[in-house]
Amino acid sequence: MILVLDFGGQYNQLIARRVRENHVYCEVHTLTTGDAAADKNVKSGLGTAINLAAVKNLKPDGIILTGGPQSVYEENSSLPPAEIFSLGVPVLGICYGAQAMVHVLGGSVKKSEVSEYGKTEIKIGGASKLFAGVEKNTVVWMSHTDRICELPANFSATADSENCPVAAAENPARNLYAVQFHPEVLHTVEGKKILSNFVDICGSARDWTMDTFVSDTISELKNKIGGGKVLCALSGGVDSSVAAVMLSKAVGKNLTCVFVDHGLLRKNEAAEVEAAFANYDLNFIKIDAGARFLAKLSGVTEPERKRKIIGEEFIRVFEEVAKQIGAVDFLAQGTIYPDVIESGLGKSAVIKSHHNVGGLPSVIDFKEIVEPLRLLFKDEVRQAGRELGLPENIVSRQPFPGPGLGIRIIGEVTAEKVQIVQDADAIFRAEVARNKIELSQYFAALTNMRSVGVMGDGRTYDYAVVLRAVLTSDFMTAEAAQIDWNVLNTVANRIVNEVKGVNRVLYDCTSKPPATIELE
Ligand code: XMP
Repeated sequence: MILVLDFGGQYNQLIARRVRENHVYCEVHTLTTGDAAADKNVKSGLGTAINLAAVKNLKPDGIILTGGPQSVYEENSSLPPAEIFSLGVPVLGICYGAQAMVHVLGGSVKKSEVSEYGKTEIKIGGASKLFAGVEKNTVVWMSHTDRICELPANFSATADSENCPVAAAENPARNLYAVQFHPEVLHTVEGKKILSNFVDICGSARDWTMDTFVSDTISELKNKIGGGKVLCALSGGVDSSVAAVMLSKAVGKNLTCVFVDHGLLRKNEAAEVEAAFANYDLNFIKIDAGARFLAKLSGVTEPERKRKIIGEEFIRVFEEVAKQIGAVDFLAQGTIYPDVIESGLGKSAVIKSHHNVGGLPSVIDFKEIVEPLRLLFKDEVRQAGRELGLPENIVSRQPFPGPGLGIRIIGEVTAEKVQIVQDADAIFRAEVARNKIELSQYFAALTNMRSVGVMGDGRTYDYAVVLRAVLTSDFMTAEAAQIDWNVLNTVANRIVNEVKGVNRVLYDCTSKPPATIELE
């Protein structure tokens, strides 16, 4: 395995994902010194916090130090211990990780007069194993204000850019590599090749595949759960469906899947989910809780409050079902990696509290929570689903947020608004399917804005529906899709004609960032 040590950069988990694309298992951890006083600044990262002894125990083939928002010369910045560079395993430092390597080994890092941000051309000089097969002039993604000024002994620069004399450096005898740019970001044209070269330098066997992940996870679940009973929160989305099938393979009938219809699902979705799981060998319970959720949401307009309320109500419903079933030890959830990072468990800023992580109530009637997909990215979850033999209509389903239409209705959620957004969304989905448009995620949402229109001879004062459609590979960044105008026109006409209470349709053409995919 290759170990990624997290220093808090926004895109750190992408490093793990890119390494895994080389069929090498990769874990992300935060490094602590083990000394509580010294560690007070080390916030929990994506994985568990570990110390140097634990790093040695893991016997990684290689170590990657990530980027992050700190400066090495600041007091209390998180720095790796020098020993990490003497373990005899290759180390790749990326951005802050590169600066930290140089600083700890006796070089110097200073604030740069010119920050480099965005696509930048670098020139590679000399022969470096890290850049084997990479063009001499290549475009990389830079994002830094500090820069490496002096290299430690036995290091030499291997690449430079117009504003950065040390865009990459290395000590090849000790297999220590430092890159100022981000090879994990797709804008780095040859980033994949560079990370693949690092995997070769590490000598890792490229034998980590989704079938081994699936079978290993199933046996881990068996060991962990034993003869205990598991309750799985099934939403019908790809994540919880894959988690449910994995769990049913591990514990069979000791698994009960509870599908809570919170009344905030897409049109006909509850019936579709029920039909899909009718064929599986697991206990399936459907709870109609629409009225209960609406009552809790009455008068609530603030997005984070809505998320928390929906998340908590979910858990309350599960607790009640668990009590009826009796002696339930584990609650299973389909949490995936992006949920974990965006809930602010790492050092990245809190963006939204995803209900299945950040909004979890602290008092909970289960012994433990199992999250078999916690380390997987969305596309890896889909691969796992295919491995498990799930049908394509579930495996390739577009993501749907746990709080459902609750966060696609700006302002207070009412039964009338839910109906409007369900009907508008069904029309949008039907037209996208009819025109065979490839999109990563698309939906209709309801703004809280009413405006004046004219229908027949009469004045209307109705809601505006917003259409959102994005293209993305990781859901961390996304581009608004350029949908054909005729299709948008058809959708808009159909919505204003067929959905009562709507007289205007808008298209959201913002990318993420600065917007997010969902509206709340
Ligand atoms: P944002 O809006 O943060 O969404 O750009 C990124 C992806 O996450 C989905 N999403 C959620 N998924 N629970 C989930 O399971 C949530 O609370 C939640 N909020 C957003 C969103 O649909 C998109 O795919």
